[in-house]
Amino acid sequence: MAREFTSVGVVGLGTMGAGIVEVFARNGIEVVAVEISAAALERGRVTLTGSTDRAVAKGKLAEADRDALLSRVNFQVGLDALHSVDLVIEAVPEHLDLKQRIFAELDRVCKPEAILATNTSSLSVTEISVATTRPNQVIGIHFFNPAPVMKLVEVVRTVVTSADVVADVEALCERLGKVDVTINDRAGFIANALLFGYLNHAVSMFEARYATREDIDAAMKLGCGLPMGPLALMDLIGLDTAYEILDTMYRRGGRDRRHAPVPLIKQMVTAGLLGRKSGRGFYTYERPGSPVVVPDEQTPVASESALADGARGITKVGVVGSGTMATGIIEVFAKAGYEVVSVTRGAEKSAKVFESVKTSLNKGVVRGKLSEADRDAALGRINWSATLEHLADVDLVVEAVVEELSVKKALFASLDEICKPGVVLATTTSSLPVIDVAMATQRPADVVGLHFFNPAPIMPLIEVVQTIRTSTETTATAKAVCATLGKTGVVCGDRSGFIVNALLFPYLNDAVKMLEASYSTADDIDYAMKLGCGYPMGPFELLDVVGLDVSLAIQRELYLELREPGFAPAPLLEHLVTAGYLGRKSGRGFRDHTRR
Ligand SMILES: NC(=O)c1ccc[n+]([C@@H]2O[C@H](COP(=O)([O-])OP(=O)(O)OC[C@H]3O[C@@H](n4cnc5c(N)ncnc54)[C@H](O)[C@@H]3O)[C@@H](O)[C@H]2O)c1
Repeated sequence: MAREFTSVGVVGLGTMGAGIVEVFARNGIEVVAVEISAAALERGRVTLTGSTDRAVAKGKLAEADRDALLSRVNFQVGLDALHSVDLVIEAVPEHLDLKQRIFAELDRVCKPEAILATNTSSLSVTEISVATTRPNQVIGIHFFNPAPVMKLVEVVRTVVTSADVVADVEALCERLGKVDVTINDRAGFIANALLFGYLNHAVSMFEARYATREDIDAAMKLGCGLPMGPLALMDLIGLDTAYEILDTMYRRGGRDRRHAPVPLIKQMVTAGLLGRKSGRGFYTYERPGSPVVVPDEQTPVASESALADGARGITKVGVVGSGTMATGIIEVFAKAGYEVVSVTRGAEKSAKVFESVKTSLNKGVVRGKLSEADRDAALGRINWSATLEHLADVDLVVEAVVEELSVKKALFASLDEICKPGVVLATTTSSLPVIDVAMATQRPADVVGLHFFNPAPIMPLIEVVQTIRTSTETTATAKAVCATLGKTGVVCGDRSGFIVNALLFPYLNDAVKMLEASYSTADDIDYAMKLGCGYPMGPFELLDVVGLDVSLAIQRELYLELREPGFAPAPLLEHLVTAGYLGRKSGRGFRDHTRR
């Protein structure tokens, strides 16, 4: 029989604590909510009522239920009020000495059988537990932000946490409607260990002015389907909390440089820019605590027209190549009303591409997204050719041939001879330096990267990659073209992985390393990222879809260019590729796909 929890205590009603109070009270449990001062208590109360009022306004909570929920919360200053609760969750700032002091005090105040839990994200639960005389009743219950929304709870057991306590807490999580994963006490547990290196890397891109905050965030939302971009997420977490988590993970997690907090974070914390809770972080909010972003001096000003930015007019587009990307890109341009010249290596290939484009457009017709007349018009706008000479009068060339530098360089040298002056020459490479192909021409200022995502007709993102020789007019033209395609063009520098792959693949690689270290299972790691961070797929699901060979190749490129030791490909990934386990396409990767 699992233990009955009728009343719980929550210590600290900040970003996490207030949400945790809501979770318990919503599920019929009496809560004693404790803060350090009357003012902090009042702030916590306002956060809780704000959140429940929003739930009522959105029709997710009845007014009567909100009132019942609030009536279950007993707001108090000081830990003495916790004398008769069955369980306490501590959610005070991420400092070991503070948490240890609180646990020693809780040990004194709480009844002997009470379970004492910490919501720490990165500190050692074991070190916290030894501040009490009952370390076997101390456990980590790590909720995710926002606690009322995110389904995951990481239950962290130490070597001395008793099995009964673990089982009781797991049953409690289930009662709260949460999905729990139980793991050992390691810095960052599952989700934060995989998340924070990525967040820190995103901040370093912003700090280095590699891309704007809007573009970094849009890239990860649109390129990976994440619920929010990394900088917006830093603001939600709170920069002070994020700093402490990174700092602890750096010190506890083997001094991986990727966890050494980027200096900008500390500067922002010192300047009081803590994120949403202070009204300003990477973005500016309507008021402290508000989720509504308002424009500030960094907000890009929309120009009256793209031409005002020096963008050139584009009406005719050449696409070179006959693979998956070229086929999708031809469709995208033709559908958007451009006249398209497709150049392949022969009539047979052209016929195949034509069939693929037609099939894809037909699907649009069947789904009611495209009229038959529009499909015919789009197909009619495409001219099929096997000679580059037909690109003499196009305004933009998009190259999507095989990912080999020598092939691409030879092609760009030919385009340089054939194309008219002023044409924009774009490469869709996902891993080669754009400057290398640019320097194969006499006009590197006109060369840019247009990194489409697969499948091109569906994915809403394009990375516009500018080299150190790309002119502002060329970048403006490329961005304007993206907009006419109904896609978001994010501008970034010419570095391995651009924005999306540079931020995504090291995270996937870290997940493989975590599995390899037997810290958790592929299923639990996938759950953690989906239910704790709102990712559309877990890392192993995604690796199997992308292909382990492709992922390994990208990770190797990143490692070679950036020389970051933490980017070294996980040996397990190498072994799986060597064994021919490439993911869905080969029937087996991290999971066996033949049995489904
Ligand atoms: N922010 C997140 O996204 C997130 C997610 C999961 C876990 N966590 C963890 O939750 C914990 C709290 O983080 P947060 O972001 O909510 O911090 P926060 O700064 O928003 O809130 C901390 C609260 O604790 C109160 N407090 C400080 N000393 C206290 C004391 N002696 N007694 C009672 N209350 C006290 C403060 O007044 C404040 O309201 C940390 O351990 C953090 O790592 C944070």
